[in-house]
Amino acid sequence: MKNNPLPRLDDNPEIRRRLLPYCRLEPGEIWDDPKGRHRIGCKDAADPEQMSELIGDEKPTLAIHDPPYNLVAFDLRSIDEFIEWCRMWIRNTTVVTAQDASLYVWLGADQTDGFQPLPDFMVMMRDEPYKARSFITMRNQRGYGTQKNWMAVRQELLYYTKGNPIFNVDAEYTDIPKILRGYYKEINGRKTENLERSKSDNIRAGNVWVDIQQVFYRMEENVSGCYAQKPLKCIERIIAASSQPNDVVIDFFAHSGTTLIAAEKLGRRCITADIDPIYAEICIRRLEQYRRSGRKGWQNGHPFELEVPSLADATNDAPSDDTPEALQKLLF
Ligand SMILES: C[S@@+](CC[C@H](N)C(=O)[O-])C[C@H]1O[C@@H](n2cnc3c(N)ncnc32)[C@H](O)[C@@H]1O
Repeated sequence: MKNNPLPRLDDNPEIRRRLLPYCRLEPGEIWDDPKGRHRIGCKDAADPEQMSELIGDEKPTLAIHDPPYNLVAFDLRSIDEFIEWCRMWIRNTTVVTAQDASLYVWLGADQTDGFQPLPDFMVMMRDEPYKARSFITMRNQRGYGTQKNWMAVRQELLYYTKGNPIFNVDAEYTDIPKILRGYYKEINGRKTENLERSKSDNIRAGNVWVDIQQVFYRMEENVSGCYAQKPLKCIERIIAASSQPNDVVIDFFAHSGTTLIAAEKLGRRCITADIDPIYAEICIRRLEQYRRSGRKGWQNGHPFELEVPSLADATNDAPSDDTPEALQKLLF
């Protein structure tokens, strides 16, 4: 296996400086898929005009958003500011989606900080035109915690709907066999056990997902440099459950492009955005590579390895004009 990963891109200004010249999109620009299926924008999710321009006349039936949890472009915001920012991209989602649409939002719940931002986000959503449908927990393999508390191993996923969108229950079946017996019911005078009554030999995922491997460097789908990549399997589950072939799926926080690749795999169209030109470029490259070779990531190589083969000498010791603040001005 190759061993040439990109370090985390969000905290290495020198690497970012070297990669930016190879990025096709400037802030505000849109990449149009030569196959006419998808669209990737280097856009700000909170800006109504930018989002309307990106979506155009399409009517997406599904939104899957995975915002940065409070750390917004190097700037640690207060919880109130963060929630107001969330309201902005939620409203942009409401405007651009079809009348009947599903919305999934990944959010953190920091157990060292009042479980924020999850509870305030849930309260904010009560003002918006959505019905709360489920609170899904995905179990991580790795966790964080101390010897004096329960280890934090969950990722929270909120499911909302507006109007009356579809839900394909078949998508919910896992490959975990049913092994537990115990619920008996009389049917036509005969005592039946729950396994013989059920439609499938496998269990439904329900709202606790324990069958999804967190992405790590040995996995083919790994996109090094992306510090917050979601596994394809969970995004594919959402897309299969809450959209139909050829529907448009939106994701305002593209990062490694997981929603884009899942949509391509499942025959949906995807319109996605990232405010950062480097992540927008990574998404384009991930799609191009998938179409060329069927590979879903770079494992422990990286998306810019042809142009920038070695980054070993790029350290975190940025020159003085290369602070996160200076870089932010350069980028946005
Ligand atoms: C948590 S990551 C998303 C991970 C993604 N689901 C994946 O599987 O790769 C959040 C992304 O949002 C981007 N972002 C932050 N603020 C944004 C904004 N205002 N508009 C669009 N993207 C933004 C960041 O650059 C980052 O790439």
